[in-house]
Amino acid sequence: KGKRAFIAGVADDNGYGWAIAKSLAAAGAEILVGTWVPALNIFESSLRRGKFDESRKLQDGSLMEIAKVYPLDAVYDNPEDVPEDVKANKRYAGATNWTVQEVAESVKKDFGTIDILVHSLANGPEVSKPLSETSRKGYLAALSASSYSYISLLKHFLPIINPDGSAISLTYIASERIIPGYGGGMSSAKAALESDTRVLAFEAGRKKRIRVNTISAGPLGSRAAKAIGFIDMMIDYSFTNAPLQKELHAEEVGNTAAFLSSPLASAITGAVIYVDNGLNAMGVGV
Ligand code: NAI
Repeated sequence: KGKRAFIAGVADDNGYGWAIAKSLAAAGAEILVGTWVPALNIFESSLRRGKFDESRKLQDGSLMEIAKVYPLDAVYDNPEDVPEDVKANKRYAGATNWTVQEVAESVKKDFGTIDILVHSLANGPEVSKPLSETSRKGYLAALSASSYSYISLLKHFLPIINPDGSAISLTYIASERIIPGYGGGMSSAKAALESDTRVLAFEAGRKKRIRVNTISAGPLGSRAAKAIGFIDMMIDYSFTNAPLQKELHAEEVGNTAAFLSSPLASAITGAVIYVDNGLNAMGVGV
């Protein structure tokens, strides 16, 4: 029977979320996505107008279908959490039911259950500030959007994830090695995400035999990464210094997510899986 996946963090065809959606679709999964509320209109209208048709193409020539796009803001767990100014903001006012709890309820109502949950989102308002110059507010915002959002998604979706299901997030090596420029508490947020992956693997594994893993991905020129500012340098650095001197394709991360969500990975949980051309294994650049 075909599997169903919910992928949080798809708002264009450049990022890892999109690539994961394609790999899962190619493997036969039904695709649902969660799109950040302020990006919803442009994403849906681009989809409708065929702007993504070229990148919807799968290996067999067919186009990836997205069964449904849900507006989502993973910083808010339920309507009581949403501040008045956000409620009134015109980028939010047009959409409904976009808190994590409401999205899980909507997916349950529309489809019943899912098999695969993917968290492919992050946000750190002070990412361009060094950690030692980051404000408390900026640090907590990075953790809220990039780490707690995963706990919240898993918490609210767990009741509708089928046994033997899989949850996956995306992390970055800045959690464990110094990457100057990845500031604002984003390195801390990724460290939390990786640690939480282990604890959540235990809890979801014991409760429902659901596997929880995270992919530590190499640099990709996504929209989010371009906003940080140093992505081209990181891509060049990786190309020069990694064991595999080749471009890293988003598809390679997508394929790993498909593998991790398949029975081929039935004993893998609580793991950080590197998909980075091996750069993490280097001690010095040469
Ligand atoms: P992206 O821009 O395609 O994805 C980030 C998504 O998060 C966007 O669609 C954005 O709308 C969404 N988002 C932000 N705040 C949100 C919120 N509060 N609620 C719901 N959605 C929200 O960029 P990318 O780079 O593909 O990011 C996906 C994941 O991959 C992130 O966790 C990122 O940290 C991780 N990653 C990216 C690397 C890179 O070099 N691009 C390297 C390693 C990890």
